[in-house]
Amino acid sequence: MANTHQVKIITQDNESVTFECRSDEDVISAGLRQDIYLMASCREGGCATCKGFCAKGDYIMGKYSFQALPDEEEAAGEVLLCRCYPTTDIEVEVPYTYDRISFSPEDLYFETEVTEISQISSNVMRLLLKRTGDDLQIKFDSGQFFDLEIPNTTTTRSYSPANTANKKGELEFLIRIVDGGKFSTYLKNDAKVGQKIQVKSASGVFGLKENGFTPRYFVAGGTGLAPVLSMVRRMHEWEEPQKCVIYFGVNTQEEVFFLQELEKLAKDMKTLELRICVWKYTDDWHGEKGSVVDILRRDLTETGAKPDLYLCGPPGMVDATFAVCDELGIPKERIYLEKFLPSGS
Ligand SMILES: Cc1cc2nc3c(=O)[nH]c(=O)nc-3n(C[C@H](O)[C@H](O)[C@H](O)COP(=O)(O)OP(=O)(O)OC[C@H]3O[C@@H](n4cnc5c(N)ncnc54)[C@H](O)[C@@H]3O)c2cc1C
Ligand code: FES
Repeated sequence: MANTHQVKIITQDNESVTFECRSDEDVISAGLRQDIYLMASCREGGCATCKGFCAKGDYIMGKYSFQALPDEEEAAGEVLLCRCYPTTDIEVEVPYTYDRISFSPEDLYFETEVTEISQISSNVMRLLLKRTGDDLQIKFDSGQFFDLEIPNTTTTRSYSPANTANKKGELEFLIRIVDGGKFSTYLKNDAKVGQKIQVKSASGVFGLKENGFTPRYFVAGGTGLAPVLSMVRRMHEWEEPQKCVIYFGVNTQEEVFFLQELEKLAKDMKTLELRICVWKYTDDWHGEKGSVVDILRRDLTETGAKPDLYLCGPPGMVDATFAVCDELGIPKERIYLEKFLPSGS
């Protein structure tokens, strides 16, 4: 019979939950077996949602993606709990508060209905969902994501809403169509208004951080714009006074989307500036010319600004932007990021 060890999870607000974990099961699975639902998404070591810091004890790590847990983080004691097999009792600090842990599956899932599907650029679709039933409240912090299940399958994919938490049961997603991708194919060929989609409640720790009146610069690659829009819309709702800049980058002009929505937001929100960046542009493009990384580097170098940075989108773009910010002296702890890692990578 497998040995068991005690796992103590310590949350950001200094609360804790302790449960047993067999030496042949990972920490997330052990929690699930005992109705303790820690933050997790892919459960395959690919998305980094379950990341924590092991403060005490020993463990073995199973297979995981380097993107989700780079070597230097692993060496510093960071772990992916869905790939962490304790060999002694362990204590793990997680970057979220106790109220983010669920203790019953009913709290975790809800049903929605498709209310609108539209193509908004050469490779992006907008999907609107509405929660069914009487309870129309959808709780989440701007920047977090939801796992959506493809109808009649058990396949889920993570998507970050572009709208803000609301009591109307609405969720707005901006989804890049990946050739041959499971969710992409569903959305392009089979999704219909009225169809039901199961949604797992919000996960993730990407979101607005308080830092006085320090300006916030948001760098979004493609549909990385979704959580950025949610955060900026939240700032608008709260009438936050600090300057913010959205750097929105795509490869070609045909890939630009939400231009009108962004311009309207900038008109309503005097603190917001926009940089719409097209990498491979033609003569009739009048926005920023080049990648978001180039344009951000230009602005930070010319102005010497040291804003808080929020980066979101494809891993390559996020890594390149992080390197520029680091090189230009933005402290690492003021750079917040979410990589849209492909599932099961
Ligand atoms: C926390 C989080 C939030 C996310 N939020 C969003 C969002 O708001 N909007 C959004 O569009 N996406 C988002 N994603 C990505 C999304 O979850 C899916 O991975 C993506 O939509 C592809 O799913 P699919 O089922 O169509 O393709 P899959 O069936 O997963 O993949 C098919 C093939 O394409 C490859 N592939 C998958 N994604 C990519 C990619 N980005 N670039 C290159 N190759 C790829 C896979 O490796 C595989 O070979 C997010 C991911 C994470 C982890
Ligand atoms: S849930 Fe652990 S890496 Fe995705």
